[in-house]
Amino acid sequence: MPNIVLVGAQWGDEGKGKIIDVLTERADWVVRFQGGSNAGHTVIVGERKYVLHLTPSGILRPNKRCVIGNGVVLDPMEMVSEIEALRQVGVECEGRLFLSSRAHLVLPHHKALDAGREERSSMSGRIGTTRRGIGPAYADKAARAGLRAHALASRRFSEDAREALRRGNEALMVAGLAPLDVETELARLAEAAAQLSAYVADTERLLNEAVARGESLLFEGAQGIMLDVDFGTYPYVTSSNPSAGGASVGTGVSPRHVDRVIGVLKAYTTRVGEGPFPTELRDAVGERLRTVGGEYGATTGRPRRCGWFDAVIARYSAMINGVDEWAVTKLDVLDGLETLRIATAYRLDGRLLDAPPADARDLARCEPVYEELPGWRESVRSVRRPQDLPRHMLAYLSRIEELTGVPVAIVSLGPGREHTLEWKAIEKI
Ligand code: GDP
Ligand code: IMO
Ligand code: MG
Repeated sequence: MPNIVLVGAQWGDEGKGKIIDVLTERADWVVRFQGGSNAGHTVIVGERKYVLHLTPSGILRPNKRCVIGNGVVLDPMEMVSEIEALRQVGVECEGRLFLSSRAHLVLPHHKALDAGREERSSMSGRIGTTRRGIGPAYADKAARAGLRAHALASRRFSEDAREALRRGNEALMVAGLAPLDVETELARLAEAAAQLSAYVADTERLLNEAVARGESLLFEGAQGIMLDVDFGTYPYVTSSNPSAGGASVGTGVSPRHVDRVIGVLKAYTTRVGEGPFPTELRDAVGERLRTVGGEYGATTGRPRRCGWFDAVIARYSAMINGVDEWAVTKLDVLDGLETLRIATAYRLDGRLLDAPPADARDLARCEPVYEELPGWRESVRSVRRPQDLPRHMLAYLSRIEELTGVPVAIVSLGPGREHTLEWKAIEKI
């Protein structure tokens, strides 16, 4: 398999975990490059459901090696509990999960700051974060004040972590929030460090040596383009770069070694948290998408906002990410809808826009220009061959290809591995 970067092409939760799990069969390494435990990637294998926050979804296939790259912010406590939860269901991480020594750690005060700021903000200033400490951890990284994963395997861990916690308390007090008990937090962190130290590695080197041996890498994006700190609906975004460019800086693998970019698109649109969402449906159709699609956050359980497919966003995502092929998921959720809508442009102050404006306040005022397509009546879950799909679904997929200029390579008709069809463009993968 070529080296592939797989990214979310909307606002996250497109079904990346499922597609990664399917593609992992052909890869040697699966690599997370940004985000942290704000991600919730669901993989269904047989009767069992796994929700992975930090561990790459490739861990569920035996013998595959997984890396948490330097671009990820790593919560040690969360990592320990995820490794333990996997062990309980017979998935062993030791020896095949590697944590970059350069990844920044999410510390307890990051989470307290994240939650405290969200609670304090007025409704209009609230981002609706996952409260996993992501923003404050990346802020410390950029401010050159973070603690990195190499500390977990160092004899100086207690010293370094105590100092980080002390500075964290200062930040909490400046924010008017209660400080944490340093010794209690330190004891918890030291316990996690003892369990994780064996996993810390020079992953940049491991990955580059793997490339040199001709092994294949699958980069697993978290979140999605519209949550990108540069390209998303700023400030209603996460604090990392989920776009394809993030894969290189977040792993130490040169962009020259990336062969293809796959974008994952949900057949409709969802968003969790605050911020503009032009095709949002606040009616019975939106409610139906939420219910049928099970659209509740995999990390926070919050109901996801639902709306029609937005080709403006998909086109923008194709451009920024350089998407070679789409994987389109959750088409089965549209079964039985008489008419489907696709936003092809936005109208703002009497002008037509073919890309999202930079200012989130402008995006919030954009009116989608819709095109209508006929839906399909039949249930598609059990379809196993592309030629057996309803004609109107084929037309819907062709229209997505036309509007974005990118071919579809994978079609997903249900959460299981077996509900996956390979499409025309798959031969490139
Ligand atoms: P991710 O964050 O992009 O990995 O996506 P999530 O796991 O947060 O959300 C996707 C949800 O849709 C999960 O519950 C998946 O099990 C489910 N899912 C994935 N693909 C399909 C599909 O084709 N059809 C249906 N009905 N569910 C799917
Ligand atoms: P996966 O990888 C959907 C959203 C939050 C909030 C914003 C900022 O499962 O697709 P943060 O906690 O990152 O500071 O929150 O980003 N968000 C996600 N939405 N899927 C995700 O991950 C998300 N990770 C963060 O809801 O709006
Ligand atoms: Mg998710």
